[in-house]
Amino acid sequence: MTVGSFIRGLAGPLERPLCDAYRALFMNVGRCAQQLQAAISSDCHLIDVGGGDGAVLDAILRVRPDLTATMLDLKTEVGKFLAPEIAPRVEIRAGTSIQDYLAQGGAPAACVLVSDVVHHVPADARTTFLHDCVRLLQPGGTLIIKDVAPGHLVSLASMYADRYITGDRHVRLIAPDDLVGLLRGLGLHASAPLLAPTERPNYAFAFRAVGNLQPHP
Ligand SMILES: C[S@@+](CC[C@H](N)C(=O)[O-])C[C@H]1O[C@@H](n2cnc3c(N)ncnc32)[C@H](O)[C@@H]1O
Repeated sequence: MTVGSFIRGLAGPLERPLCDAYRALFMNVGRCAQQLQAAISSDCHLIDVGGGDGAVLDAILRVRPDLTATMLDLKTEVGKFLAPEIAPRVEIRAGTSIQDYLAQGGAPAACVLVSDVVHHVPADARTTFLHDCVRLLQPGGTLIIKDVAPGHLVSLASMYADRYITGDRHVRLIAPDDLVGLLRGLGLHASAPLLAPTERPNYAFAFRAVGNLQPHP
């Protein structure tokens, strides 16, 4: 059991406010969700890869009643922070990798969201992970990736919090240029940054394929 899951277990009904306060140290979820949703086309279904508790997805769906979503996560407890009025618009696939989802006949989507997941994926597995995210896209679809840039005091704090409170000892932040480079290698081009400079060190891009996607071994 990690320090984080121990504290969450003790918190009982205070778990959500406690987690919100903790996340607010690193990111303004409502403000970032408002900026991320602008890159999502109307009336689309999105796949939230590594959706976790669903805090970011919940904030997006609140301001976008036209959207529905599927959450995929390796964890078995997923989506617990979706509000009761939002949850009916979300299909939850807990304990499901992207490869499992596709093998189970899961449909690709017009939009794929990957929020604060890439820094949890081991560096040597990132190209394969991102390629799998691209496989979830319908032709012409949009891959939105939000992450945390290294080199700021807040990012250092978030990295140590992930390591010693969330309990993921393999966390390694990825710089925006490196993320853009990895996606370019897969044939996707980045939009202008989706988040305002005031959200730093948080950053996000919308990636779209230009021409044929690059095959990945
Ligand atoms: C920091 S949480 C982010 C949760 C949510 N996306 C958000 O921004 O509020 C990272 C999540 O990514 C999930 N995750 C990590 N690697 C994954 C992978 N390869 N496939 C699917 N989920 C993954 C973890 O289980 C965890 O729930």
